[in-house]
Amino acid sequence: MAFTKQDIITQLDQIRVLPILVTDDVDQAIRCVTTLAENGLPAVEITLRTPNAMTVLREVVKACPTVTVGAGTILTQAQLDAVKETGAAFGISPGITPALAKAAAESGLPYFPGVGGASDLMLALEHGFDVVKLFPSDIVGSTKMAKALGGPFPDVRFCLTGGVTVESTPALLQQPNVLCVGGSWMCPASLINAGDWTAIATLAAAAAQAGKK
Ligand code: 3PG
Repeated sequence: MAFTKQDIITQLDQIRVLPILVTDDVDQAIRCVTTLAENGLPAVEITLRTPNAMTVLREVVKACPTVTVGAGTILTQAQLDAVKETGAAFGISPGITPALAKAAAESGLPYFPGVGGASDLMLALEHGFDVVKLFPSDIVGSTKMAKALGGPFPDVRFCLTGGVTVESTPALLQQPNVLCVGGSWMCPASLINAGDWTAIATLAAAAAQAGKK
């Protein structure tokens, strides 16, 4: 089923924690996404940081129809086009370029570019993107940056990612223009590789709890 950008924003506004998954193994990815969803995190970003990522994305989309599966680390228009083919529900980038922003705006795929400051945000807004990933959140200033940008850009909402933890989540979500946080802490590669779904379930449940309003 195709989601609108507003559908994705509404879901992120409810869950408020987006797991970021980095794995090259289809079976592990399906198992991990299922575990995350069963424990309160029914939307996930699968990064394109591994060689097999498009296959992983396509197979997870097929195997987990009740989960909102998005693609992260989109760096090029070619990747954006390939992501659309996989049936992913949304796309995210760590940054923004004029070419990618234009292609994403024309693609119809719900898309959230990354910003690190005001100039990036102005470029995002030129292309109609008013929900953006603030990355790397812990380096660029986290809620201080979100709060400061809220002055000139009152209608923009942020997804803070990079260095977020279960401990920092509740305070980050207090900032009114923070829509959600994202992170890999509930599904680290070490636990995925070990097949420790019990530990991932525990971390996911704690993350979902930390995101509760
Ligand atoms: C991202 O892609 O947003 C970050 O790599 C996630 O950051 P984390 O691994 O520090 O959670």
